[in-house]
Amino acid sequence: MAKSEWYKNMSVYQIWPRSFCDGNGDGIGDLWGVLDKLDYIKSLNVDAIWFSPLFPSPNADYGYDISDYMDIHPDYGNLQVFRQVLDGAHARGMKVFMDLVVNHTSDEHKWFIEGRKDKNSPYHDYYYWRNGRTTRSGRRLPPNNWSSVFEGGAWEYDASLDEYYLHVFAKKQPDLNMANPRVREEVKNILRFWLDLGVDGFREDVITFIAKDEGLPSSYPPLPVANGYRHYANRPKAHEYLKEFKREVLDFYDCFTVGESPMTTPDVALRYIDEGGDKVLDEMIAFSHMEADCFMLDMLQLPFNLVKMKRAFSEWQTKLQGRAWNALYIENHDHPRIISRYGSEEYRTESGKMLAAMYILQRGTPFIYQGQEIGMLNTNLTELGMYKDVMAQNNIEVATRFMPRSTAMKLLARSSRDNARTPFQWTDGKNAGFSEGTPWFFVNENYKEINAAQQEDDPNSLLNFYRAILKFKKETPVAVWGDYKEYFPKDKNFRFLQLREQLRHHERLYLAAV
Ligand code: NOJ
Repeated sequence: MAKSEWYKNMSVYQIWPRSFCDGNGDGIGDLWGVLDKLDYIKSLNVDAIWFSPLFPSPNADYGYDISDYMDIHPDYGNLQVFRQVLDGAHARGMKVFMDLVVNHTSDEHKWFIEGRKDKNSPYHDYYYWRNGRTTRSGRRLPPNNWSSVFEGGAWEYDASLDEYYLHVFAKKQPDLNMANPRVREEVKNILRFWLDLGVDGFREDVITFIAKDEGLPSSYPPLPVANGYRHYANRPKAHEYLKEFKREVLDFYDCFTVGESPMTTPDVALRYIDEGGDKVLDEMIAFSHMEADCFMLDMLQLPFNLVKMKRAFSEWQTKLQGRAWNALYIENHDHPRIISRYGSEEYRTESGKMLAAMYILQRGTPFIYQGQEIGMLNTNLTELGMYKDVMAQNNIEVATRFMPRSTAMKLLARSSRDNARTPFQWTDGKNAGFSEGTPWFFVNENYKEINAAQQEDDPNSLLNFYRAILKFKKETPVAVWGDYKEYFPKDKNFRFLQLREQLRHHERLYLAAV
């Protein structure tokens, strides 16, 4: 198969390393654990592994705040054990993709530390440092009115420099100034480092945010979260930078790239992935199909709307048909568990199979998130202090502007990313077989009923369904190359039934909240 084609007939398993498998007994998932589970991963009939960040990080955002791009976090191992994992995956015919997080670094990255010491340091301009504004009454204001995705305003003041730095995500995630050619050289070096080590590609974190509009203008009307996105999502320069990375690095390797693309329609995605156009990435990670039970953010919950979900999938399928390749997913580390959202916890095996077939058999590359294949469900965190995710605090703060705290806490419990981050349930033994030590995070209480060991030999289990459907997809050309065609339900009652279901759901939400 030609270089540009192999990813079209592959499926990918995503590992969020901290919660996958603990090999050294310290309570934290690691690469020794992964090494031990390579046969399991291969048994799923996937062709590749994508690792969420494995790099050194203070873990303000669990690895999405990187303090060293060219090493492995000591919690997870070291470069030596990473090489073993890489070789072990390759020996089993699986490729390995890393997470490339270059919209921002950690504030503990040496570039930021150096640039913060001195305005004249070459590292100062690696980030967006700006002067504040002053009101007529002398009050100091940040450089513009942008708000962050994770933590209030998007600017943090540094008294020693008397300047603010931009962070579209958490305070500890300062945005890199990609307009600075030196920063782009650093990115190319990072790409080369991992590709030369033998990795096969990258999932590129919020890559649609890497270019900011000149002058960083304020944005109106202001939104409580992510205000300003109009000036940093999908700006023309993002394509230009990606083209440079492709031309100068990626084109020299037989590698794969998938870009995470929040706030991106299929028409906009085509700017990056159109095979007949100026293609700079192989695939893009869509979001609209993950919004069938919420309004933009998982926290703003609505009843599940089948038509909304179908429309979202159909739009990406039809617009990309014959022009570009889809990335297919229904779970990852950023969303609650899918059976708890779009399926039924009561009929978890049945609804899990239905959801798997529904998305895997569409046209595109299926991604499977750890635990999805055994039907792991949402957990139930009742106190704010139980959450690990940096988003939780902010979500509660924003939500309580509009609703009572008790309602906000219930919405948070259902929508938090922490639902997807509980340790993998391997067995019904101690700590669900995840760790011999004390797990870093709560093991879901349901591990006695839901675990991989118990599903291993059951021909009707969800685990074995995933194995079968991924094999089927791989071996059945029409499941890979076939066109997508939408059929509409003939039953006139369908809309009515759905409306009735939505009203009941509203009623349940209301009763739960009062
Ligand atoms: C998207 C990642 O998937 C998410 O986990 C992270 O918090 C943000 N980008 C910021 O890096």
